[in-house]
Amino acid sequence: MEKLLSTKATCDSHGQDSSYFLGWQEYEKNPYDEIMNPRGIIQMGLAENQLCFDLLEFWLSEHPDAAAFKQENASVFKEIALFQDYYGLPAFKKALAEFMSEIRGNRVRFDPNKLVLTAGATSANETLVFCLANPGEALLLPTPYYPGFDRDLKWRTGVEIIPIHCSSSNGFQITKTALEQAHRRARKRNLKVKGVLITNPSNPLGKTVSRSELDMLLRFISAKGIHLISDEIYAGTVFAPPAFVSIAEALMEFDDRDKVLNQIHIVYSLSKDLGVPGFRVGAIYSNNDLVVSAATKMSSFGLISSQTQHLLSAMLSDKKFTRNYIEENRKRLEERHNKLVMGLEKAGIGALESNAGLFCWVDMRHLLASNTFQGEIELWKKIVYEVGLNISPGSSCHCTEPGWFRICFANMSQETLTLSMQRLKAFAESIERTRICSKSTGKSKKMPLSKWLFRLSSCMHDLNVRVSCEHVE
Ligand SMILES: Cc1ncc(COP(=O)(O)O)c(C=O)c1O
Repeated sequence: MEKLLSTKATCDSHGQDSSYFLGWQEYEKNPYDEIMNPRGIIQMGLAENQLCFDLLEFWLSEHPDAAAFKQENASVFKEIALFQDYYGLPAFKKALAEFMSEIRGNRVRFDPNKLVLTAGATSANETLVFCLANPGEALLLPTPYYPGFDRDLKWRTGVEIIPIHCSSSNGFQITKTALEQAHRRARKRNLKVKGVLITNPSNPLGKTVSRSELDMLLRFISAKGIHLISDEIYAGTVFAPPAFVSIAEALMEFDDRDKVLNQIHIVYSLSKDLGVPGFRVGAIYSNNDLVVSAATKMSSFGLISSQTQHLLSAMLSDKKFTRNYIEENRKRLEERHNKLVMGLEKAGIGALESNAGLFCWVDMRHLLASNTFQGEIELWKKIVYEVGLNISPGSSCHCTEPGWFRICFANMSQETLTLSMQRLKAFAESIERTRICSKSTGKSKKMPLSKWLFRLSSCMHDLNVRVSCEHVE
Protein backbone atom coordinates (compact mmCIF):
# COMPACT_ATOMS: atom_id res chain seq x y z
CA MET A 1 0.00 0.00 0.00
CA GLU A 2 2.81 2.41 0.94
CA LYS A 3 4.27 1.97 -2.55
CA LEU A 4 1.27 3.80 -3.96
CA LEU A 5 2.32 6.91 -2.07
CA SER A 6 5.25 9.29 -2.38
CA THR A 7 8.48 8.76 -0.46
CA LYS A 8 7.90 12.05 1.38
CA ALA A 9 4.45 10.99 2.56
CA THR A 10 5.69 7.68 3.91
CA CYS A 11 9.15 8.53 5.26
CA ASP A 12 9.47 8.84 9.03
CA SER A 13 11.34 12.15 9.26
CA HIS A 14 8.10 13.83 10.35
CA GLY A 15 8.92 12.74 13.92
CA GLN A 16 5.34 11.68 14.71
CA ASP A 17 6.63 8.68 16.64
CA SER A 18 8.67 10.84 19.04
CA SER A 19 7.67 10.49 22.71
CA TYR A 20 6.60 14.15 22.50
CA PHE A 21 3.73 13.26 20.17
CA LEU A 22 3.15 9.79 21.70
CA GLY A 23 2.51 11.47 25.06
CA TRP A 24 -0.23 13.57 23.44
CA GLN A 25 -1.81 10.40 22.04
CA GLU A 26 -1.79 8.76 25.48
CA TYR A 27 -3.38 11.87 26.96
CA GLU A 28 -6.11 11.80 24.29
CA LYS A 29 -6.99 8.22 25.28
CA ASN A 30 -7.43 9.08 28.94
CA PRO A 31 -7.71 12.85 29.51
CA TYR A 32 -8.05 14.13 33.07
CA ASP A 33 -11.28 15.84 33.99
CA GLU A 34 -12.02 16.93 37.54
CA ILE A 35 -15.56 15.50 37.44
CA MET A 36 -15.72 13.05 34.53
CA ASN A 37 -12.28 11.47 34.76
CA PRO A 38 -10.41 12.43 37.95
CA ARG A 39 -7.99 9.52 37.48
CA GLY A 40 -7.05 10.57 33.96
CA ILE A 41 -3.79 11.90 32.55
CA ILE A 42 -3.07 15.60 33.08
CA GLN A 43 -1.74 17.28 29.94
CA MET A 44 1.54 18.99 30.82
CA GLY A 45 3.16 18.45 27.44
CA LEU A 46 1.29 21.17 25.58
CA ALA A 47 2.71 24.70 25.46
CA GLU A 48 -0.64 26.45 25.41
CA ASN A 49 -1.36 29.78 27.10
CA GLN A 50 -4.86 29.71 28.55
CA LEU A 51 -4.28 32.24 31.31
CA CYS A 52 -5.81 35.33 29.72
CA PHE A 53 -8.92 34.11 27.95
CA ASP A 54 -11.08 36.29 30.18
CA LEU A 55 -9.31 39.38 28.77
CA LEU A 56 -9.80 38.27 25.17
CA GLU A 57 -13.43 37.38 25.76
CA PHE A 58 -14.12 40.63 27.56
CA TRP A 59 -12.68 42.58 24.63
CA LEU A 60 -14.87 40.59 22.22
CA SER A 61 -17.96 41.30 24.28
CA GLU A 62 -17.12 45.02 24.23
CA HIS A 63 -16.44 45.03 20.48
CA PRO A 64 -19.10 42.84 18.88
CA ASP A 65 -18.67 44.55 15.49
CA ALA A 66 -15.18 43.12 15.00
CA ALA A 67 -16.42 39.54 14.86
CA ALA A 68 -19.67 40.44 13.09
CA PHE A 69 -18.08 41.81 9.88
CA LYS A 70 -19.14 45.35 10.67
CA GLN A 71 -17.28 48.64 10.49
CA GLU A 72 -18.90 51.90 11.52
CA ASN A 73 -22.22 50.08 11.51
CA ALA A 74 -21.92 48.98 7.87
CA SER A 75 -21.37 45.40 6.76
CA VAL A 76 -17.91 44.55 5.42
CA PHE A 77 -18.80 40.88 4.93
CA LYS A 78 -18.47 40.87 1.13
CA GLU A 79 -15.17 42.70 1.19
CA ILE A 80 -13.71 40.29 3.76
CA ALA A 81 -15.14 37.18 2.12
CA LEU A 82 -13.63 38.09 -1.25
CA PHE A 83 -10.23 39.18 0.05
CA GLN A 84 -7.54 36.77 -1.15
CA ASP A 85 -4.45 38.88 -1.57
CA TYR A 86 -1.37 37.05 -0.29
CA TYR A 87 0.21 40.28 0.97
CA GLY A 88 -2.40 40.33 3.76
CA LEU A 89 -4.77 43.02 5.01
CA PRO A 90 -2.70 46.23 5.39
CA ALA A 91 -4.52 47.17 8.61
CA PHE A 92 -3.66 43.81 10.13
CA LYS A 93 0.01 43.92 9.10
CA LYS A 94 0.33 47.38 10.61
CA ALA A 95 -1.34 46.27 13.86
CA LEU A 96 0.83 43.13 14.05
CA ALA A 97 4.06 45.06 13.40
CA GLU A 98 3.12 47.51 16.17
CA PHE A 99 2.23 44.69 18.57
CA MET A 100 5.64 43.11 17.91
CA SER A 101 7.31 46.44 18.72
CA GLU A 102 5.24 46.93 21.85
CA ILE A 103 6.20 43.48 23.15
CA ARG A 104 9.84 44.52 22.74
CA GLY A 105 9.24 47.69 24.76
CA ASN A 106 9.20 49.77 21.52
CA ARG A 107 12.99 49.58 21.48
CA VAL A 108 12.74 48.31 17.90
CA ARG A 109 10.30 49.18 15.13
CA PHE A 110 9.00 46.73 12.59
CA ASP A 111 8.10 47.79 9.05
CA PRO A 112 4.84 46.10 7.92
CA ASN A 113 6.27 45.87 4.39
CA LYS A 114 8.95 43.48 5.61
CA LEU A 115 6.40 41.13 7.19
CA VAL A 116 5.16 37.99 5.44
CA LEU A 117 2.01 36.49 6.94
CA THR A 118 1.84 32.72 7.41
CA ALA A 119 -0.45 30.15 9.00
CA GLY A 120 1.39 30.09 12.34
CA ALA A 121 5.09 29.90 13.14
CA THR A 122 5.09 26.31 11.85
CA SER A 123 4.48 27.57 8.35
CA ALA A 124 6.80 30.57 8.85
CA ASN A 125 9.72 28.33 9.82
CA GLU A 126 9.19 25.92 6.95
CA THR A 127 8.76 28.72 4.42
CA LEU A 128 11.95 30.41 5.60
CA VAL A 129 13.90 27.18 5.34
CA PHE A 130 12.57 26.66 1.81
CA CYS A 131 13.82 30.14 0.94
CA LEU A 132 17.25 29.79 2.54
CA ALA A 133 18.42 26.22 1.94
CA ASN A 134 18.37 23.45 -0.65
CA PRO A 135 17.60 19.81 0.14
CA GLY A 136 20.71 18.25 1.66
CA GLU A 137 22.00 21.52 3.12
CA ALA A 138 22.09 22.07 6.87
CA LEU A 139 20.93 24.30 9.71
CA LEU A 140 22.58 24.37 13.14
CA LEU A 141 20.22 24.26 16.14
CA PRO A 142 21.12 24.47 19.84
CA THR A 143 19.90 21.54 21.90
CA PRO A 144 17.55 20.95 23.58
CA TYR A 145 15.13 22.18 20.89
CA TYR A 146 11.37 22.20 20.21
CA PRO A 147 10.46 18.68 18.99
CA GLY A 148 8.24 20.08 16.21
CA PHE A 149 11.33 21.39 14.41
CA ASP A 150 12.12 17.94 12.98
CA ARG A 151 8.79 18.16 11.17
CA ASP A 152 8.83 21.89 10.40
CA LEU A 153 12.40 22.35 9.22
CA LYS A 154 13.34 18.95 7.78
CA TRP A 155 10.44 16.85 6.64
CA ARG A 156 9.27 18.52 3.43
CA THR A 157 12.33 20.70 2.75
CA GLY A 158 14.89 17.88 2.88
CA VAL A 159 17.16 20.12 4.97
CA GLU A 160 19.29 18.53 7.71
CA ILE A 161 19.45 19.68 11.33
CA ILE A 162 22.86 19.56 12.98
CA PRO A 163 22.62 19.93 16.77
CA ILE A 164 24.71 22.46 18.66
CA HIS A 165 25.25 20.52 21.88
CA CYS A 166 24.53 22.63 24.95
CA SER A 167 24.98 21.28 28.45
CA SER A 168 23.63 21.73 31.96
CA SER A 169 27.13 22.68 33.17
CA ASN A 170 26.53 26.30 32.01
CA GLY A 171 22.72 26.33 32.12
CA PHE A 172 22.49 25.16 28.46
CA GLN A 173 24.00 28.38 27.10
CA ILE A 174 25.19 28.44 23.51
CA THR A 175 28.99 28.65 23.38
CA LYS A 176 31.34 29.50 20.55
CA THR A 177 33.05 26.12 20.98
CA ALA A 178 29.76 24.23 20.63
CA LEU A 179 28.88 26.27 17.54
CA GLU A 180 32.24 25.61 15.90
CA GLN A 181 32.00 21.91 16.73
CA ALA A 182 28.54 21.66 15.16
CA HIS A 183 29.80 23.46 12.07
CA ARG A 184 32.74 21.05 11.79
CA ARG A 185 30.45 18.01 12.22
CA ALA A 186 28.29 19.26 9.35
CA ARG A 187 31.32 19.83 7.11
CA LYS A 188 32.58 16.32 7.94
CA ARG A 189 29.30 14.98 6.61
CA ASN A 190 29.79 17.12 3.50
CA LEU A 191 26.79 19.24 4.40
CA LYS A 192 26.81 22.89 3.47
CA VAL A 193 25.71 24.95 6.49
CA LYS A 194 23.20 27.64 5.54
CA GLY A 195 22.33 29.03 8.92
CA VAL A 196 21.70 28.85 12.65
CA LEU A 197 18.21 28.75 14.12
CA ILE A 198 17.54 29.72 17.73
CA THR A 199 14.37 30.11 19.77
CA ASN A 200 14.46 33.20 21.96
CA PRO A 201 13.07 32.83 24.59
CA SER A 202 13.98 29.19 24.36
CA ASN A 203 11.56 26.34 24.02
CA PRO A 204 12.08 24.07 26.00
CA LEU A 205 14.38 25.94 28.45
CA GLY A 206 11.90 28.72 29.27
CA LYS A 207 14.60 31.37 29.38
CA THR A 208 15.81 34.26 27.31
CA VAL A 209 18.96 34.04 25.22
CA SER A 210 21.52 36.43 26.73
CA ARG A 211 22.86 39.51 24.98
CA SER A 212 26.35 38.02 24.93
CA GLU A 213 25.08 34.84 23.25
CA LEU A 214 23.29 36.95 20.62
CA ASP A 215 26.43 39.00 19.96
CA MET A 216 28.47 35.83 19.66
CA LEU A 217 25.91 34.37 17.22
CA LEU A 218 26.01 37.54 15.11
CA ARG A 219 29.81 37.38 14.93
CA PHE A 220 29.63 33.68 14.02
CA ILE A 221 27.14 34.06 11.17
CA SER A 222 28.99 37.13 9.93
CA ALA A 223 32.27 35.23 9.79
CA LYS A 224 30.71 32.20 8.09
CA GLY A 225 28.46 34.18 5.75
CA ILE A 226 25.33 32.26 6.77
CA HIS A 227 21.80 33.10 7.99
CA LEU A 228 20.44 33.50 11.51
CA ILE A 229 16.78 32.69 12.16
CA SER A 230 15.43 33.83 15.51
CA ASP A 231 12.10 32.21 16.40
CA GLU A 232 10.67 34.75 18.86
CA ILE A 233 7.26 33.16 19.30
CA TYR A 234 7.57 33.45 23.12
CA ALA A 235 8.70 37.11 23.10
CA GLY A 236 5.67 38.26 25.11
CA THR A 237 6.01 35.63 27.81
CA VAL A 238 9.10 37.10 29.53
CA PHE A 239 7.98 37.69 33.12
CA ALA A 240 11.24 38.29 35.00
CA PRO A 241 14.75 39.68 34.39
CA PRO A 242 16.98 39.50 32.45
CA ALA A 243 14.92 41.43 29.93
CA PHE A 244 14.22 39.94 26.53
CA VAL A 245 16.59 41.12 23.80
CA SER A 246 15.30 40.52 20.29
CA ILE A 247 17.83 39.76 17.60
CA ALA A 248 16.50 42.92 15.94
CA GLU A 249 17.82 44.94 18.90
CA ALA A 250 21.18 43.18 19.05
CA LEU A 251 21.52 43.79 15.31
CA MET A 252 21.03 47.56 15.69
CA GLU A 253 24.20 47.80 17.77
CA PHE A 254 26.25 45.20 15.94
CA ASP A 255 29.46 46.56 14.35
CA ASP A 256 28.97 44.67 11.09
CA ARG A 257 25.26 45.47 10.95
CA ASP A 258 25.16 46.30 7.26
CA LYS A 259 27.08 43.18 6.36
CA VAL A 260 24.61 40.79 8.04
CA LEU A 261 21.36 42.75 7.67
CA ASN A 262 20.14 40.48 4.87
CA GLN A 263 21.05 37.34 6.81
CA ILE A 264 18.82 37.92 9.86
CA HIS A 265 15.22 36.70 9.94
CA ILE A 266 12.64 36.68 12.72
CA VAL A 267 9.77 34.24 13.09
CA TYR A 268 6.74 35.27 15.11
CA SER A 269 3.22 34.07 15.86
CA LEU A 270 0.26 34.88 18.08
CA SER A 271 -0.07 31.26 19.23
CA LYS A 272 1.73 31.80 22.55
CA ASP A 273 1.79 35.52 23.34
CA LEU A 274 -1.92 36.00 22.60
CA GLY A 275 -2.85 32.36 23.29
CA VAL A 276 -4.70 31.79 20.01
CA PRO A 277 -2.92 28.85 18.28
CA GLY A 278 -6.19 27.82 16.62
CA PHE A 279 -6.28 31.11 14.68
CA ARG A 280 -3.06 30.12 12.88
CA VAL A 281 -1.43 33.54 12.80
CA GLY A 282 2.28 33.71 12.14
CA ALA A 283 4.82 35.86 10.36
CA ILE A 284 8.30 36.09 8.93
CA TYR A 285 10.15 39.38 9.36
CA SER A 286 13.18 39.97 7.19
CA ASN A 287 15.25 42.86 5.86
CA ASN A 288 16.12 40.73 2.87
CA ASP A 289 13.88 41.81 -0.05
CA LEU A 290 14.47 38.56 -1.92
CA VAL A 291 13.40 36.50 1.09
CA VAL A 292 10.32 38.67 1.62
CA SER A 293 9.36 38.36 -2.02
CA ALA A 294 9.94 34.57 -2.25
CA ALA A 295 8.24 33.90 1.09
CA THR A 296 5.24 36.03 0.10
CA LYS A 297 4.78 33.89 -3.03
CA MET A 298 5.10 30.74 -0.94
CA SER A 299 2.65 31.99 1.65
CA SER A 300 -0.16 31.07 -0.78
CA PHE A 301 0.15 27.58 0.69
CA GLY A 302 -0.70 28.71 4.19
CA LEU A 303 -2.48 32.04 4.39
CA ILE A 304 -4.28 33.43 7.40
CA SER A 305 -8.00 33.70 6.65
CA SER A 306 -9.17 37.26 6.00
CA GLN A 307 -11.81 36.78 8.71
CA THR A 308 -9.09 36.21 11.33
CA GLN A 309 -6.98 39.10 10.02
CA HIS A 310 -10.00 41.39 10.19
CA LEU A 311 -10.85 40.47 13.77
CA LEU A 312 -7.28 40.68 15.03
CA SER A 313 -6.52 43.96 13.30
CA ALA A 314 -9.32 45.52 15.38
CA MET A 315 -8.09 43.86 18.59
CA LEU A 316 -4.38 44.64 18.16
CA SER A 317 -5.07 48.22 17.09
CA ASP A 318 -6.68 48.82 20.47
CA LYS A 319 -3.59 50.06 22.29
CA LYS A 320 -5.30 50.24 25.68
CA PHE A 321 -6.18 46.58 25.34
CA THR A 322 -2.73 45.42 24.12
CA ARG A 323 -0.90 47.35 26.86
CA ASN A 324 -3.04 45.85 29.59
CA TYR A 325 -2.98 42.37 28.03
CA ILE A 326 0.82 42.25 27.74
CA GLU A 327 1.27 43.33 31.35
CA GLU A 328 -1.42 41.07 32.83
CA ASN A 329 -0.26 38.07 30.78
CA ARG A 330 3.27 38.43 32.17
CA LYS A 331 1.98 38.73 35.71
CA ARG A 332 -0.17 35.61 35.44
CA LEU A 333 2.59 33.61 33.79
CA GLU A 334 4.98 34.54 36.58
CA GLU A 335 2.49 33.41 39.23
CA ARG A 336 2.00 30.10 37.47
CA HIS A 337 5.68 29.58 36.95
CA ASN A 338 6.33 30.21 40.64
CA LYS A 339 3.58 27.81 41.62
CA LEU A 340 5.09 25.06 39.49
CA VAL A 341 8.60 25.68 40.81
CA MET A 342 7.35 25.60 44.41
CA GLY A 343 5.40 22.40 43.78
CA LEU A 344 8.49 20.81 42.28
CA GLU A 345 10.62 21.96 45.20
CA LYS A 346 8.22 20.28 47.63
CA ALA A 347 8.72 17.09 45.65
CA GLY A 348 12.49 17.50 45.92
CA ILE A 349 12.77 18.26 42.21
CA GLY A 350 14.78 21.15 40.77
CA ALA A 351 14.38 23.11 37.56
CA LEU A 352 16.62 25.27 35.42
CA GLU A 353 16.25 28.90 36.49
CA SER A 354 13.89 30.46 33.99
CA ASN A 355 12.21 33.78 33.19
CA ALA A 356 9.93 33.11 30.22
CA GLY A 357 7.79 30.66 28.31
CA LEU A 358 4.91 28.43 29.26
CA PHE A 359 7.03 25.65 30.79
CA CYS A 360 9.99 24.77 32.97
CA TRP A 361 12.97 22.61 32.14
CA VAL A 362 12.91 20.16 34.99
CA ASP A 363 15.78 18.13 36.39
CA MET A 364 14.73 14.58 37.33
CA ARG A 365 18.13 12.99 36.95
CA HIS A 366 18.01 11.79 40.56
CA LEU A 367 14.85 9.78 39.81
CA LEU A 368 16.42 7.77 36.98
CA ALA A 369 17.03 4.06 37.60
CA SER A 370 19.98 4.34 35.21
CA ASN A 371 21.70 7.42 33.79
CA THR A 372 20.73 6.54 30.21
CA PHE A 373 18.07 7.51 27.70
CA GLN A 374 16.56 4.08 28.27
CA GLY A 375 16.30 5.06 31.94
CA GLU A 376 14.71 8.37 30.93
CA ILE A 377 12.05 6.68 28.80
CA GLU A 378 11.30 4.18 31.58
CA LEU A 379 10.80 7.06 34.02
CA TRP A 380 8.68 8.94 31.47
CA LYS A 381 6.41 5.92 30.95
CA LYS A 382 5.88 5.62 34.69
CA ILE A 383 5.04 9.31 34.92
CA VAL A 384 2.57 9.09 32.02
CA TYR A 385 0.87 5.79 32.81
CA GLU A 386 1.17 5.47 36.55
CA VAL A 387 1.37 9.03 37.87
CA GLY A 388 -0.95 10.32 35.14
CA LEU A 389 1.06 13.31 33.89
CA ASN A 390 2.01 13.81 30.28
CA ILE A 391 5.32 15.65 30.30
CA SER A 392 7.96 15.75 27.55
CA PRO A 393 11.21 13.84 27.98
CA GLY A 394 14.41 15.68 27.16
CA SER A 395 15.32 13.08 24.54
CA SER A 396 12.34 14.24 22.45
CA CYS A 397 14.00 17.68 22.47
CA HIS A 398 17.36 16.12 21.48
CA CYS A 399 18.89 16.92 24.87
CA THR A 400 22.22 15.13 25.26
CA GLU A 401 21.84 14.50 29.01
CA PRO A 402 19.24 11.99 30.22
CA GLY A 403 16.87 13.00 33.01
CA TRP A 404 15.56 16.42 31.90
CA PHE A 405 11.86 16.97 31.18
CA ARG A 406 9.76 19.88 29.93
CA ILE A 407 6.70 20.57 32.08
CA CYS A 408 4.04 23.05 30.90
CA PHE A 409 2.09 25.18 33.37
CA ALA A 410 -0.21 27.55 31.47
CA ASN A 411 -2.72 25.16 29.88
CA MET A 412 -4.63 24.14 33.01
CA SER A 413 -6.38 25.50 36.08
CA GLN A 414 -4.59 26.28 39.37
CA GLU A 415 -6.33 23.29 40.96
CA THR A 416 -5.14 20.91 38.26
CA LEU A 417 -1.60 22.20 38.64
CA THR A 418 -1.81 21.62 42.40
CA LEU A 419 -3.05 18.08 41.84
CA SER A 420 -0.29 17.36 39.32
CA MET A 421 2.34 18.44 41.85
CA GLN A 422 0.77 16.27 44.55
CA ARG A 423 0.90 13.28 42.23
CA LEU A 424 4.53 14.00 41.40
CA LYS A 425 5.51 14.49 45.04
CA ALA A 426 3.97 11.16 46.06
CA PHE A 427 5.77 9.45 43.19
CA ALA A 428 9.17 11.01 43.98
CA GLU A 429 8.77 10.04 47.64
CA SER A 430 7.89 6.47 46.71
CA ILE A 431 11.10 6.20 44.67
CA GLU A 432 13.08 7.62 47.56
CA ARG A 433 11.53 5.16 50.01
CA THR A 434 12.24 2.23 47.70
CA ARG A 435 15.88 3.29 47.59
CA ILE A 436 16.15 3.59 51.38
CA CYS A 437 14.41 0.26 51.74
CA SER A 438 16.71 -1.52 49.27
CA LYS A 439 19.78 0.09 50.87
CA SER A 440 18.83 -1.16 54.33
CA THR A 441 18.02 -4.68 53.12
CA GLY A 442 20.96 -4.69 50.74
CA LYS A 443 18.64 -5.90 48.00
CA SER A 444 17.41 -3.81 45.15
CA LYS A 445 13.81 -4.61 45.80
CA LYS A 446 11.23 -2.84 43.68
CA MET A 447 8.50 -1.22 45.68
CA PRO A 448 5.17 -2.64 44.57
CA LEU A 449 3.32 0.01 42.64
CA SER A 450 0.20 -0.71 44.63
CA LYS A 451 2.04 0.59 47.71
CA TRP A 452 2.95 3.99 46.35
CA LEU A 453 -0.37 4.28 44.62
CA PHE A 454 -1.98 3.66 47.98
CA ARG A 455 0.09 6.43 49.50
CA LEU A 456 -0.61 8.68 46.58
CA SER A 457 -4.34 8.21 46.89
CA SER A 458 -4.32 8.89 50.59
CA CYS A 459 -2.31 12.06 50.06
CA MET A 460 -4.96 13.22 47.61
CA HIS A 461 -7.80 12.36 49.88
CA ASP A 462 -8.40 16.05 50.58
CA LEU A 463 -8.95 16.73 46.93
CA ASN A 464 -11.22 13.74 46.66
CA VAL A 465 -9.27 12.21 43.82
CA ARG A 466 -7.44 9.00 43.29
CA VAL A 467 -4.69 8.27 40.83
CA SER A 468 -5.19 6.12 37.83
CA CYS A 469 -4.62 2.42 38.26
CA GLU A 470 -5.80 1.68 34.76
CA HIS A 471 -2.40 1.23 33.18
CA VAL A 472 -0.57 -0.35 36.08
CA GLU A 473 0.88 -3.68 35.12
C1 LIG B 1 9.59 27.45 19.22
C2 LIG B 1 8.30 27.21 18.49
N1 LIG B 1 8.21 27.54 17.20
C3 LIG B 1 7.08 27.31 16.51
C4 LIG B 1 5.97 26.73 17.10
C5 LIG B 1 4.72 26.52 16.29
O1 LIG B 1 3.80 27.54 16.56
P1 LIG B 1 2.48 27.83 15.74
O2 LIG B 1 1.34 27.32 16.56
O3 LIG B 1 2.39 29.33 15.61
O4 LIG B 1 2.59 27.16 14.44
C6 LIG B 1 6.02 26.37 18.44
C7 LIG B 1 4.88 25.73 19.09
O5 LIG B 1 4.93 25.19 20.17
C8 LIG B 1 7.22 26.62 19.16
O6 LIG B 1 7.33 26.31 20.45
